Amino acid sequence: MLRRNRDLVRLVWLVVLMACVVGTTPLTWAASGPLVPIDLRCEYLSNPLGIDVRQPRFAWVLQHTERGERQSAYQVLVATQAEILGQDRGDHWNSGKVTSDDSTQVVYAGRPLESGRTYYWKIRYWDKEGNASPYSKPAEFEMGLLNRSEWKGQWIGGNNLLRKEFTLPGKPVRARAYITALGYFELRANGEKIGNNVLDPGWTTYEKRALYVTHDITTHLRQGINAFGVMLGGGWATQRGGFKTPYDAPAVLLQMEIELEGGKQISLASDTTWKAARGPILSVSIFEGEVYEAREEQPGWDVPGFDAATWELAQAMAGTSGVLSAQMMPPIRVVDTLVPTAIHNPRPGVYVYDFGQNFSGWAQLWVRGPRGATVTMRYSELLYPNGMINRENIRGAKARDIYILRGDGEEVYEPRFTYHGFRYLEVTGFPGTPSLDSIRGRVVHSAVRPTGSFVASKPILNQVQQIIRWGQATNLHSVPTDCDQRDERMGWMGDAHVTAEEAMLNFDMAGFYTNFMRDIADVEDEAGTITDTVPHRFGRRPADPAWGTAYPLIVWFMYEQYGDRRIVEEHYDGLKQYVEFLRSKAPDHVLRFSYYGDWIAIDKTPGELVSDAYFYLDVSLLAKMAKVLGKSADEQTYSQLAAQIKDAFNREFFDPKRDVYANGTQTAHILPLYFGLVPGDKRGAVWRHLSNDIVYAHDSHVTTGFIGVRYLMPLLTRMGTSDLAYDLATQTTYPSWGYMVMRGATTLWELWQERTGPSMNSHNHPMLGSVGAWFYQALAGINPDVERPGYQHIRIEPQVVRDLAWASGTVETVRGIVSSSWSHEPGVIRLEVEVPVNAQATISIPQEDQMSDITIREGQRTVWEKGRYVPGAPGITNGRGERGRFVFEVGSGHYIFELRGE
Ligand code: BGC
Repeated sequence: MLRRNRDLVRLVWLVVLMACVVGTTPLTWAASGPLVPIDLRCEYLSNPLGIDVRQPRFAWVLQHTERGERQSAYQVLVATQAEILGQDRGDHWNSGKVTSDDSTQVVYAGRPLESGRTYYWKIRYWDKEGNASPYSKPAEFEMGLLNRSEWKGQWIGGNNLLRKEFTLPGKPVRARAYITALGYFELRANGEKIGNNVLDPGWTTYEKRALYVTHDITTHLRQGINAFGVMLGGGWATQRGGFKTPYDAPAVLLQMEIELEGGKQISLASDTTWKAARGPILSVSIFEGEVYEAREEQPGWDVPGFDAATWELAQAMAGTSGVLSAQMMPPIRVVDTLVPTAIHNPRPGVYVYDFGQNFSGWAQLWVRGPRGATVTMRYSELLYPNGMINRENIRGAKARDIYILRGDGEEVYEPRFTYHGFRYLEVTGFPGTPSLDSIRGRVVHSAVRPTGSFVASKPILNQVQQIIRWGQATNLHSVPTDCDQRDERMGWMGDAHVTAEEAMLNFDMAGFYTNFMRDIADVEDEAGTITDTVPHRFGRRPADPAWGTAYPLIVWFMYEQYGDRRIVEEHYDGLKQYVEFLRSKAPDHVLRFSYYGDWIAIDKTPGELVSDAYFYLDVSLLAKMAKVLGKSADEQTYSQLAAQIKDAFNREFFDPKRDVYANGTQTAHILPLYFGLVPGDKRGAVWRHLSNDIVYAHDSHVTTGFIGVRYLMPLLTRMGTSDLAYDLATQTTYPSWGYMVMRGATTLWELWQERTGPSMNSHNHPMLGSVGAWFYQALAGINPDVERPGYQHIRIEPQVVRDLAWASGTVETVRGIVSSSWSHEPGVIRLEVEVPVNAQATISIPQEDQMSDITIREGQRTVWEKGRYVPGAPGITNGRGERGRFVFEVGSGHYIFELRGE
């Protein structure tokens, strides 16, 4: 997927282009007015199978031939049968014509939804003139098992192959499998793998909550005898590595609901009549990799008629008594297959492949050789100068897969229940001489949909964007991980929140973070403490406050980016409890405990300052959430508390004589400036310290860790110095993102420094990628507005900087595509903007310094002349000059502005 990024950019452009055609010229070949709604989603997913939200939320994207359009009303129909919906009837819910401009987060309000049922839905809308659109194409959603009591099976295990034959007395017309495991599973029926997910189910705090996956298995079954097989192994439930491991052995819980022709219903579930045997996987774990003995394969074990006489009965396992909840986020999948770019032979019998790209996943081996020949594949991010792989930085992770051949012709092997982070692969023990075609690289991560693209005229920015995207995507493994290669790969919370906005702009993260917020809620204890990593393996409880902020902050981003009020509601009590815990540790309103501070900083900032600044942020966010939910007493309480924290922060860390915070590092000034902690009359002085430190003391380089730099870039833009932010973003000497690119990075490093030894130096750590959000928000200028969240109102405010000739960003939001592209040549700035139907935008066009005689045209019309706004352009409702920029209020549509001046 990522390799084809350029194609994606092209595709997005094509879509934008098509949108332009729709936006500017009323189509001659279609009736003018509201067009058919598209992109129907239920709980952020398209046609989801097995959801367990009793009142799911719907969203759709509107299209219209005219500018300045919005939805004045909608109608949703939900039917129990496709035919009923086809007659424009909703027998389960007919919302009627609802006067509302909500086109996202529309809550189902029909009859109770039943476990296991499929529902068919569609929508139509009325535009602002009251014209109705046609109905959308039908979409579906299906409920999972809503009650624990509906799970009839037993948790079973005992070995890593499990099988069972069942006879179906009729033709199956509809069949579903519901399956969860402690460990990873692969479900098979009649010789075939079900679905194309890998590494299911997602990692959770299993004691509290395990995820089940729903599969449509109808086409896999037949009348008569059917065989089911489950392979089990690996996974976080049994992963060891210096932390508490909750379970000794994997276990699975499975249930199938089958409807036969004529209506007969059959339930089948896992129990101790299943048979178990050891399969070819001799050992497997996430850090160690897999050992696969192909001579131990049991051909036909998952088809009917297999002789399982030597198999034992499956064992009953304790399983988990936690909640079984539907996996409602993009599953982990093989999203791409890479061809290695080079193969070297640094020593006899040792072959080293280079994929030209660091990524998460595994190698696929194509081999012929004698029975019992053993091929070992070892993974690394780095090479020694002599061409051998360097694995010093992966610490305790063995990161290898071993394949023992059957010896019967061409054999294709890839591991199932592990993954690695690597660019290089060492192959030893290969019978004969391997070629480039002996190996493929399988890119594996949560299959989140790419939703954003950013490109600009400066190549280094595009290269940085590339390594951010690769680093981000390959660190999504059902939880946001810190790295993908060493003996860690944890949901470190600090890393998670600094990258969250960047991730949400590049990918559709709604389902992923909805789940991750539940993961956080799952680790919260009665005292309100949460943990450094979620699910909790490494790190401490209570979390470092700068890490714990992931909880309020990502909930808030969900609200801002997707308009998700429900997630605020769902977590409000948990967040309040968390904030109250922090408050209990800060009797004088200063929160001092800290473990990591501005992690990996070049110039260290006192950890207490970092923690306390986040304390202020957390409390302020809680006050804002209270406001959203209409809890005015709480809003007042926490606003007051925030004010007290602010005073205490300044008492504790600010030296009013020198106008310096703490030890005067960049981060010591960035956090108070960005969070609004600096007393009004001191902002200028503090700001000067910061900018002088960057520009003069460090020749336009950062000295922060991953916390400071996350806020530095937007702060520089907010302070009106986007040129300086651009200098940092395009910097190619140490320390900078560009330096990593220059040194050959294909994913972001953990450290600013180029290190390769046994110390902590992952070469795929997404946390410094927060600058990716600045690319979209500042350079392309696409910003949500939390007052009207989910891009109902958009602020388009591009920063035209230094020698940058053009920049372009596109974000597929919940409301549709938002894009902003500009170009600059002396005397002319062009800006093209796409605003989706049912959204409005404030477009702010910059000018060159000291420009005069400015005219602005939009399409064929003049919209600004002789110092005044000229009304009349369709879709534009207002224009004004503001702090050297020209600001237009617009409705939906495609706009092309051209500013000219002397
Ligand atoms: C992780 C970091 C994490 C940190 C906490 C490291 O081992 O890789 O990214 O935030 O620990 O200090």
